[in-house]
Amino acid sequence: MRRTPREFGKTFSGQAAELCRLTTANGLEADVTDYGATLVSLRYPDQNGKVRDLVLGYDSVLGYETGSCYFGATVGRNANRIRGAVFDLNGQEYHLSANEGRNNLHSGPNGYSFRLWQIREAEQKENAITFHLSSPDGDQGFPGNLEASVTYELTGDGALKIHYEAVSDQSTLINMTNHGYFNLNGHDSGNVLNQWMELEAEYYTPVCASSALPTGEIREVAGTPFDFRRPKKIGQEIEDGDIQIGRAGGYDHNFVINGVSGALRKAASAFSEESGIAMEVWTDLPCVQFYTANFVEGQKGKEGAVYGKRSGFCLETQYFPNSINTPGFPVFVLQPGKRWEATTIYRFYHMA
Ligand code: GLA
Repeated sequence: MRRTPREFGKTFSGQAAELCRLTTANGLEADVTDYGATLVSLRYPDQNGKVRDLVLGYDSVLGYETGSCYFGATVGRNANRIRGAVFDLNGQEYHLSANEGRNNLHSGPNGYSFRLWQIREAEQKENAITFHLSSPDGDQGFPGNLEASVTYELTGDGALKIHYEAVSDQSTLINMTNHGYFNLNGHDSGNVLNQWMELEAEYYTPVCASSALPTGEIREVAGTPFDFRRPKKIGQEIEDGDIQIGRAGGYDHNFVINGVSGALRKAASAFSEESGIAMEVWTDLPCVQFYTANFVEGQKGKEGAVYGKRSGFCLETQYFPNSINTPGFPVFVLQPGKRWEATTIYRFYHMA
């Protein structure tokens, strides 16, 4: 293990954040911070050997603490939205904070993305780091004392593997994701409209007119701009006047990954002709939120970069959004004493 911790600034409350570097022999290198258990940088050589940083981020903890884009952050206890910031579990009503209109997004202002996680030295494997968080009963409004951990690991085949674990002493919702914004030409290279995307999804969940919540319908992608079953440039149909795209200002939709959830399977592939860098996303979760940074505007990022609209794409693996309030959507509830585990792998390579 070659881990070089360095200071990453202090939070407003005076806590020092740390940046840790993970490296591998194949050139993939990641910087992660304990603030939000966040992926800060992911460097990989392009087809000419020039190293590019493939994720959007900030230079220090200050950016993450004040930003609203969730660059590279671990999101929890529940990623995505909950209608009315309220849900019923086992006959009891639970209230969260409303931070997007009347709804809850990414668990509210006090989400796990804005906490300092503990670094667990003892659990570290080679090229891996584990962050741990204790989330008490009632935290953000959710029931149950939850012990959560996220492990980032660089594997020998050029992949970043993210593994989540959690246990609770009461039934609770859990839906943790990583909110990395990828740009296969480099974080500071402009928009991703020319990059190719393929999504292993026959179905997606359309969103409402008045909010970005799913309507509850599970719709076929066939014949719509949401059909990424064959590789297509991200920008190909993004300005086509499609009602669903219009509602979100681009892609910001949940896709149902083909195959059986619980087993690791491919969810997405992306490729850039300019850099020759390709990536694949594998997960055992049922869905992925494909988001084209529609709300990113003038964000002052790493090394003087200014990120605008569509300067990255997110592939946030997840359960069906708002499933607890949506008849017909499969719901995942973590049962007391049961261990929840999920894995998402971002693999990088060069297109031959
Ligand atoms: C998710 C949401 C988007 C947006 C981003 C954060 O991807 O689906 O609508 O809120 O998080 O900016």
